[in-house]
Amino acid sequence: MTTALRASRLEKTHRRGGEQVHALRGVGIEVEAGRLVALIGRSGSGKTTLLNCLLGWERPDRGEVEVPGVRDPAAAPWTTVAVVPQRFGLLDELGLADNVALAARLAGLPRPREAAVEALGELRLAHLADRLPGEVSLGEQQRTALARALVVRPAFLVADEPTGQLDEELTGHVLTRLRVACAAGTGVLVASHDPAVVAAADRVVRLEDGRLVD
Ligand SMILES: Nc1ncnc2c1ncn2[C@@H]1O[C@H](COP(=O)(O)OP(=O)(O)OP(=O)(O)O)[C@@H](O)[C@H]1O
Ligand SMILES: [Mg+2]
Repeated sequence: MTTALRASRLEKTHRRGGEQVHALRGVGIEVEAGRLVALIGRSGSGKTTLLNCLLGWERPDRGEVEVPGVRDPAAAPWTTVAVVPQRFGLLDELGLADNVALAARLAGLPRPREAAVEALGELRLAHLADRLPGEVSLGEQQRTALARALVVRPAFLVADEPTGQLDEELTGHVLTRLRVACAAGTGVLVASHDPAVVAAADRVVRLEDGRLVD
């Protein structure tokens, strides 16, 4: 029985008409409980494709994905693998607290609204709880997406450039929050270009043109 979020020998080719992009060419990665792993690499190197395969949002052409406790990665509950997508994926019609509370509700938490406001507060967003996503900055939307993931205390967190919209001070704060989640047992995988994320990581994995390099 596996306890780590793991992918091995992943291959993925994106096809559009006659064009082919070999996004992953035999990639393996492992995220253990309580560890923060940074996935770095230039734009277009395959980071999001790799995360999407781990999440079951894309199906690799070859290779294996293992998520503890589920047969199919696409069936993993939010409490097992929570996600901060590169484009956040907030619901425009719901306030920030309701976006976060929805995840808490679906996960069966007893007091979803209270849990949501607390999770927002931990990311310095409590004062914006009732604003719509369209009424706050991109950095505030990004931290809301992180609160929506952390509110359920997931076994694993997969975050795609979660500090891309943040200044240095807030980046430091978010990384501290991620380290707290790790200390509580969450395994965290962060795709990033940010040197601060690399510095905070237990391990750094670099993708170059669909391949891992040391
Ligand atoms: N649906 C798609 N159809 C065709 N090509 C795609 C598709 N998705 C990604 N690609 C291509 O696959 C390669 C890897 O893309 P990916 O989004 O994984 O990169 P990334 O490392 O996340 O980049 P960034 O840092 O800019 O987010 C790129 O060349 C991209 O253009
Ligand atoms: Mg990406």
